[in-house]
Formats: sequence, structure tokens, C-alpha cells
Amino acid sequence: MFPVKHPAQAGGTRRALRRTRRRMFPVKQCGDPRKRRYEPPDCVAMDAAADARPPVRPLPRVIAVANQKGGVGKTTTTINTGACLAELGLRTLIVDLDPQGNASTGLGIENRGLETSMYHVLMHDVPLENCIEPTDVRNLFVAPASLDLAGAEIELVPAFSRETRLRKAIEAVIDDYDYVLVDCPPTLGLLTVNGLAAASEVLVPIQTEYYALEGLGQLLRNVDLVKRNLNPELDVSTIVCVMYDARTKLSDQVVQEVREHFGEKVVRAVVPRSVRLSEAPSFGQPIITFDPRSRGAIAYRDVAKEVHHGSS
Ligand SMILES: Nc1ncnc2c1ncn2[C@@H]1O[C@H](COP(=O)(O)OP(=O)(O)OP(=O)(O)O)[C@@H](O)[C@H]1O
Ligand SMILES: [Mg+2]
Repeated sequence: MFPVKHPAQAGGTRRALRRTRRRMFPVKQCGDPRKRRYEPPDCVAMDAAADARPPVRPLPRVIAVANQKGGVGKTTTTINTGACLAELGLRTLIVDLDPQGNASTGLGIENRGLETSMYHVLMHDVPLENCIEPTDVRNLFVAPASLDLAGAEIELVPAFSRETRLRKAIEAVIDDYDYVLVDCPPTLGLLTVNGLAAASEVLVPIQTEYYALEGLGQLLRNVDLVKRNLNPELDVSTIVCVMYDARTKLSDQVVQEVREHFGEKVVRAVVPRSVRLSEAPSFGQPIITFDPRSRGAIAYRDVAKEVHHGSS
């Protein structure tokens, strides 16, 4: 007997239909069926099976990855944490909210000339479901962005419910995913506000370099503003120290300072500065497929586990 009752028989809704499809087809059946899919190495699969602890927060979780500083590792952290969560068997959607489209190209999506992208979702009410693409990693999906999203920052200004458009779009697909990671642009404009209004948590990557904490106060004030006016459940849940250089004392000092400042929120795993991590996006791959046993892959696997289970 077929174990899943069809929702039409069960008198179900569209939401139930989606849940059923999810059980029947663990990977969304779209895109090129011949596309090679990444399967985790045995050690990771065994690790995931052995690690049956419950998640630290209830699923699904929507996490905005934000820091208004440019080039601090937001996109690298979004792509790689997302890929590692997917590797643990958690269905993960990466929403690219940056007109640079780095999260899209970094996952192998050619974002020039896309018919539907995040611009259409935010500006023309196209359902988010219509623009989601599968990636080479099982359980990992991306809602791509392209340059036209830059226009949305201005076009959104006079728009109705301009701060909560992303939230509505995500609400319609959230039943399909365990994690939604939103890669925010390096600004505190309307796109980032949409990311913060849609999320329940903020993950902040901090580069372990001089001036690392500079400007963070502004981000925290903005999170607070969004919390008070749009999204009462929002909170900065996770800080990840990235681009750590073991050869310098400065890196250690910054990690220490960040830990003193943010305490338990700082993930214990520290992401090293690594050439392999910076090379992976030009091959359209996350680090776990590009170089599965590299230091960067190991670090982001630890980050993903801590995000999912907490640090205990
Ligand atoms: N741990 C790392 N080791 C080495 N290079 C890294 C590391 N993390 C990120 N990079 C590189 O640093 C650059 C900036 O990273 P990334 O694009 O992730 O930052 P970002 O905060 O998303 O930037 P933007 O603000 O422009 O969106 C990229 O070239 C990336 O490959
Ligand atoms: Mg980026």
C-alpha cells in the first residue's frame, strides 16, 4: 500500500499537498534531471545519522545573514552553511537578496537573463516557488538574484507593504523547507530590511580583522528597529568568526573580543582564511563539493551543526 494519503482524499489544502509532495519527492523534481547531484561522503552520512540530537530551535527557521560591511564573508557563509545543513539532510533554501547575485553564481546558477528572479518576486508578486532552482547539492535550493534587483531598492520606496514583501513570499513556501537562509546585501536599505522582517533570527559573520566590530552597532540598532516596528520575534542568534588567520595575534584578539561582547551567541567553530574557500564560487560550487575534506569544509560543517544543534 502507498503510505501517503493523497490530500485530495484526505480533504487537504494546498499546504497539505505541498507536504505530501515533499514526502513523496525528497528532492524537488525540476531542473535538468541529468544534473550530477552531490552525495555526502560516508563519514558525513554516518555523522549525521549518529547525531540525532534535536535542533536548538524549532524548524523551520528563517535566518537573515547580515552585516552592512562589504566583503566580510556573508555570501560565503550563507552558501556553505546552507550546503552543510543540506548535507545533514535538512531541506535548505538560500534566498539571494543581493543584486550582485553572488550567492546565485556561487551555487552554479547563471543569473544573467533569468526569466524570474527575486526582483520579480519582490516587485511583481511572482510566487517565490516559481523562481526557486535546485542545485548540485541534494536538499539545497536557491532563489536567485540578478542586477535588476538593484532597481528594487528604489522601486520599493513608494510600494505598498514595502518592508514585508519578502516575508509574505517566504510564508507561502516555508512548509517545503527546514531552513531558509537570506543572503543580505552590504547595506542597511530596504532589501536588508525585507530580509530582517522575513527572518526570526540574524546570523552575523564577523571578519577577524582590525575594525571588525566597527559599524556593528548600527546593524544591531537596525535589528532593534525592525524588531520593534515590524518583527517582534527577531533576534541576533548567531555570530560566526570568519577569515581567521592562525598566524596573526590579531585574529585571536578579535575572536576573544567578539566572544566577550556576544558570549554564547558566538559559534565555537572558527572559519579559517583559506584559498580553497575563495576559489569555490568561481566553479559554482560550495566548499563541500569543491574540496570536501579541506579546512574550510570542515569548519563550515561544524558551523552548520552548531547552528542546528547549538554548541553543547
Ligand atoms: N574564509 C575565507 N577565506 C578566504 N577567502 C574568503 C573567506 N570567506 C570569504 N572569502 C572571500 O572574500 C571575498 C568576500 O567574501 P563574500 O563575498 O562572502 O563577502 P560578502 O560579505 O558577501 O561581500 P558583499 O558585502 O560584497 O556581499 C570573496 O572573494 C570570498 O571568496
Ligand atoms: Mg555577498
